[in-house]
Amino acid sequence: MKFREHFGLDIGGADAKVVMLTPHGNNLKLVGFGKVSVPPGSSMSENHADQERLAETIRKLLQDAGISSRNVAVALPESQVFTRVIETPVLSEAELESAIKWEAEQYVPVPLNEVLLRHQILSVPEKNVLGAKMDVLLVAAPHAVVNRYMNILKLAGLQVLAIETEIFAISRALVGADPYSPTTLIVNLGATTTDLSVVKKGNLAFVRSIATGGEAIARAVSADLNIDISQAEEYKRAYGLDPDKLDGKVVTAIKPIVEVIVTEIKRAMVYYQTKKPDDPVRRMVLSGGMAQMPGLVNFLGESLTLEVQVGNPVANIMKNDQQAKAMLDDAPIYSAAVGLAMKEA
Ligand SMILES: Nc1ncnc2c1ncn2[C@@H]1O[C@H](COP(=O)(O)OP(=O)(O)OP(=O)(O)O)[C@@H](O)[C@H]1O
Ligand SMILES: [Mg+2]
Repeated sequence: MKFREHFGLDIGGADAKVVMLTPHGNNLKLVGFGKVSVPPGSSMSENHADQERLAETIRKLLQDAGISSRNVAVALPESQVFTRVIETPVLSEAELESAIKWEAEQYVPVPLNEVLLRHQILSVPEKNVLGAKMDVLLVAAPHAVVNRYMNILKLAGLQVLAIETEIFAISRALVGADPYSPTTLIVNLGATTTDLSVVKKGNLAFVRSIATGGEAIARAVSADLNIDISQAEEYKRAYGLDPDKLDGKVVTAIKPIVEVIVTEIKRAMVYYQTKKPDDPVRRMVLSGGMAQMPGLVNFLGESLTLEVQVGNPVANIMKNDQQAKAMLDDAPIYSAAVGLAMKEA
């Protein structure tokens, strides 16, 4: 394994998370980890003072987590990047290289000269009959977004070794590259977005991002119960979908939003199953902070009739008792940061 010393950084809509791992024999060992609230709006701001404040927040986070490495692998949030599995005519690598812009133009909602474009051939049909299509993973990251992140990290005194999107990092941490793993739907339930991805034989086979998440749920609780947002946040975390708490008022506020998410998941599954009828999704793994909301795992399992589990990105990573205990409550929040920390050179 080629491994260059670095840590993983995931700047989310709510919290920034860092994780550092180090090789230990054939395994990886946890060096340090931590999270901190991101100053609201700062990761989206072009303003120098905002960026400086976020850089300072990251520096402080690293210090508190006991991470001294200056090398970082960073994730771009799915909400700011366009990731999609597209179908193209069957082409060679070289042919696709020249055709990808034309293909991408049909899918990417912004002018292509404003984005960094990357692609990867996922699968080629066994028989190249007339009209056969191959699957290509397309990632388009706006230059403005990439530059903004690079700027913030530079202000934090960091050297960027790798940059990828959240979904790649999460799938590395929760499913890995095992070609024998069952086809898995990963649902990353963040603060501002819910990201869906299907991982097949270690590769992304489907990707969607939904613009709703934990913040929308807290806002609904706040509005319905007429309480301030921090109290609503507490109720969400403590009671979630439990019908017996507060006369069911919290669950009544939360349910419509969770149902929106369920509807989108169902729609995505139908789409995937239509495209790949011989490859049923076998299980669902949750990540992100919202995965911990009381009652959510059962609700999703019942609504989708799929086996659901909360992903633990540090399950196979060596850690001491103290680290294991500190990670216990929060593990799904660290999926992307762990995946970035696992990234090989
Ligand atoms: N125990 C809990 N119960 C319910 N919700 C929780 C819990 N812990 C965290 N959350 C929620 O999870 C969200 C934060 O999760 P996460 O860190 O995965 O999001 P993010 O990466 O900051 O956001 P995004 O990926 O959307 O940019 C917040 O909305 C927070 O309220
Ligand atoms: Mg996130």
